[in-house]
Amino acid sequence: MQSLCGRISNYFVTSSARRIADRRLLAGRSCSTSACVPEIAGYEGVADHGGLHGFSVAQTERFWGAVARSRLSWNSPFHTVHDCDLSQGKIRWFLGGKLNVSVNCLDRHACAFPNRVALIWERDEPGSEVKVTYRQLLELTCRLGNLFRRHGVKKGDCVTLYMPTCPLAVASMLACARIGAAHNVVFAGFSAEALADRIRDAQSSMVITVNQGVRGGKVAELKKTVDVAVQSCPSVKQVFVALRTENPVGMTSRDALLEEELQKEDVVCEPAAMDSEDVLFLLYTSGSTGKPKGLVHTQAGYLLYALLTHKYVFNYHDGDVFGCVADIGWITGHTYTVYGPLANGGTTVLFESTPVYPDPGRYWEMVQRLKINQFYGAPTAIRLLLKYGDQWVQKYDRSSLKILGSVGEPINTEAWEWYHRVVGGGRCSVVDTWWQTETGGICIAPRPSDPDAVIVPGMAMRPFFGIKPVLMDKEGAVLSTNDTSGALCIAQPWPGMARTIHNDHQRFTETYCQPYRGYFFTGDGAYRCKEGYYQIIGRLDDVINVSGHRIGTAELEDVVNRCRWVAESAVIGYTHDIKGQGVYAFVVLKKEVDVQEADLVQHLKDMVSKSIAKYACPDFIQFVPRLPKTRSGKIMRRVLRKVVEHDVDGLGDLSTLEDPATVQEVIQGHHHLFSKTHQQ
Ligand code: WT7
Repeated sequence: MQSLCGRISNYFVTSSARRIADRRLLAGRSCSTSACVPEIAGYEGVADHGGLHGFSVAQTERFWGAVARSRLSWNSPFHTVHDCDLSQGKIRWFLGGKLNVSVNCLDRHACAFPNRVALIWERDEPGSEVKVTYRQLLELTCRLGNLFRRHGVKKGDCVTLYMPTCPLAVASMLACARIGAAHNVVFAGFSAEALADRIRDAQSSMVITVNQGVRGGKVAELKKTVDVAVQSCPSVKQVFVALRTENPVGMTSRDALLEEELQKEDVVCEPAAMDSEDVLFLLYTSGSTGKPKGLVHTQAGYLLYALLTHKYVFNYHDGDVFGCVADIGWITGHTYTVYGPLANGGTTVLFESTPVYPDPGRYWEMVQRLKINQFYGAPTAIRLLLKYGDQWVQKYDRSSLKILGSVGEPINTEAWEWYHRVVGGGRCSVVDTWWQTETGGICIAPRPSDPDAVIVPGMAMRPFFGIKPVLMDKEGAVLSTNDTSGALCIAQPWPGMARTIHNDHQRFTETYCQPYRGYFFTGDGAYRCKEGYYQIIGRLDDVINVSGHRIGTAELEDVVNRCRWVAESAVIGYTHDIKGQGVYAFVVLKKEVDVQEADLVQHLKDMVSKSIAKYACPDFIQFVPRLPKTRSGKIMRRVLRKVVEHDVDGLGDLSTLEDPATVQEVIQGHHHLFSKTHQQ
């Protein structure tokens, strides 16, 4: 341990000195709320949330410059806070600065409090949690970093992770950061084809996986899926396999057992000094075309934004146990299971299971056992648990809980109320947090604010520091009044935002910067109420949100259209009780089909599972003789949406339809399918 501390002391000295300076600043002011940012406490007009927020957007350089200097440990200081031009898609923060993300997440804490628990791995098997201290996590990360280096991973390379949420996955992410490689975590529920697409696009030479995953008591063959995927990925030279179960796994000359290899490695690994704008990770997400986008996040700005939002939105304090139950395969897992909590020196829970395994009390039994202080989950799980009844919650002691967070989709009032009243016993603030893979961290949430500021159920409400939301009308003009809805944009850059789409900067600027030139377009619609608070309405593009996971309708149509019996298709989202949105596919068959409809439905669902993931499978497949189209041949999705929402009175203007009879056909077929389903 001595040697470790010796190597990292440089970083530690600067950060501890600054922490003392922070405390001095704090002592002299009456900043008692969590919203108080001591670095700027001396400036005028920053006594309350409104003042702080106003300062952060008006004096961007002073705000972000001050927090970046005091909260991150730098190898060399930045000379320019930012250099951005949103209209060109040019976003650069903390230029000239050098730092290492893993040092910021590990070394400085491992030196200050080596035995503090960094990770609590809540394994699928209830009651078998594993705790990992900062010292242990640093050592594991260093061994991994050395292993990756020895196998030729260099600065600028990309390592793909296909793993469940577990300490080795977190350490692998941090090991990449340590040696300057990018990571590309692929959600372990994705199919071999989807995994292969992402490995190829990222040009990864190394993949890390486990022999088998375990979730909800079921085994998933992750290594076998990797085997299939890498067959079509010539870039992959090495696959490391960790053992999550005791079952044997077939190995090839390309594979090696991770734990065995790690034993050979040293526990000290020199961190690479990275430029602020070097790539930290790629994360793929669906857009409105068939091809998922590899969003690129960089080092300093992302980390600082993760750190600050985690601290203030959740009012995180030293010693708190933070429980974000998202999988690390999604951005929520990246920012609020890994980077935010660790950058703050916190204790973070890695949840490997499901909300209903072994029973619907799982979350709350875990809260009791691990004494979780902040719980961060998804509305879809809350809606599901609500249906099982209050007794599953009330059985357990939840007195440790202080804040309850929600993310991924709008939370309906009933779910919000239940979360607040039953789960939180009316004592905890519920924070509905709006953000995206693209934004890197939370942009709109009820906190930070004075702890007793009002929170409106089902509303994300207030922009975070540095975030300036605007609503646009259809013509692209800024809507300046309240009590109005429009396309949600963000008027100026912030450090946590994605910098580009891997290998496709043009798509980045076209998607986010050009629809409303000079503004960042989120793809969501929002309402600003009389009091000026924001409520997110939902996507404005052809992206469906199933249980908080994005899936593009074009991606689904591409798969369905590949079936040799399918002539064409149109996929849309519809309101679903539990999942938020479900997938509904309209399919036109070719003439000469001699397969039973039921078999065809199954076949199409299998195709989607195989090509994308199980969660993306259509809930309904309706065969139609033709699709409603305009005279210019465009599918009228609006009409299809109205039909499945049973709003035939709201069909609107049908004058551009080529043949109005198609609408009746679709309505009749829909009724038929629905009555059939309800009889089953
Ligand atoms: C899309 C982003 C951000 C992490 C999880 C999803 C929707 C997200 C909320 C919320 C209403 C929300 C939006 C957004 N969304 N949070 N609190 N209220 N909608 O990340 O996969 O990048 O999806 O999720 O539509 O654009 P993602």
